Amino acid sequence: MTIFTIDKVRKTFMNGNVKEEILKGINLSLKEGEVTALVGASGSGKSTLLTIAAGLQPASNGQVIFDGNNMTTMNSEQVRKIRASQFGFVFQFAHLVPFLTVEEQLMLMLDVSESKIKKREQKREIDKILNLVGMDHRKKAYPSSLSGGEKQRVAIARAIIHQPKVLFADEPTASLDSKRSKDVMSLIRDLTKTLNITTLMVTHDEEMLSYADHVIKMSDGLVLQSEN
Ligand SMILES: Nc1ncnc2c1ncn2[C@@H]1O[C@H](COP(=O)(O)OP(=O)(O)OP(=O)(O)O)[C@@H](O)[C@H]1O
Ligand SMILES: [Mg+2]
Repeated sequence: MTIFTIDKVRKTFMNGNVKEEILKGINLSLKEGEVTALVGASGSGKSTLLTIAAGLQPASNGQVIFDGNNMTTMNSEQVRKIRASQFGFVFQFAHLVPFLTVEEQLMLMLDVSESKIKKREQKREIDKILNLVGMDHRKKAYPSSLSGGEKQRVAIARAIIHQPKVLFADEPTASLDSKRSKDVMSLIRDLTKTLNITTLMVTHDEEMLSYADHVIKMSDGLVLQSEN
């Protein structure tokens, strides 16, 4: 089922006095339980498109439809609610809070996302997700004692603990070596399938494309080619 539709999305920034069109009419749709990879040269607009889809900034034109809701016509509070409860985020660096243990990072996310998971079920849910990402044995650890790959697995757990429908990942493997990148990508793919999440991921790494169901190539603000 299609859960996300991006329809004729344009984005213009002012660069001094000069208007620059960064996205020039993007159309794409994302299906539940699928990983879509967004590739293209630096500056082609990948992160801009991802942040517009995620409701982190508005489009200048066009529509973003999520689960039947037109996000373009919502006010910022409505968009914030969807973002907090339905979307999860992973970035190049894990950005864990240095003074919280692994399980506390996830507990904090449940608070911030206004999750519907009941208080007494939260610990069990955290254990379940940490088990899924292979980090249950380190739940009392602080970030400083984790490797880069382990930190990223905790960041992925934190991105999905509130049971979001969509996972946005901007270069999630860019700070990892080849083996850890493959581990993290296969984890993202497995979680997408097992939990029926919709994943939109930006990557520069050709090796990661084999983990995607679809690859969308961007060039100069346009979708150049969409492969299945
Ligand atoms: N807030 C902004 N104001 C002005 N220009 C911006 C803004 N955000 C992005 N841009 C410009 O839009 C273009 C696309 O940026 P974007 O970050 O989407 O590229 P990208 O494809 O993600 O590149 P990279 O692979 O290097 O991360 C760039 O030229 C960037 O400088
Ligand atoms: Mg980028």
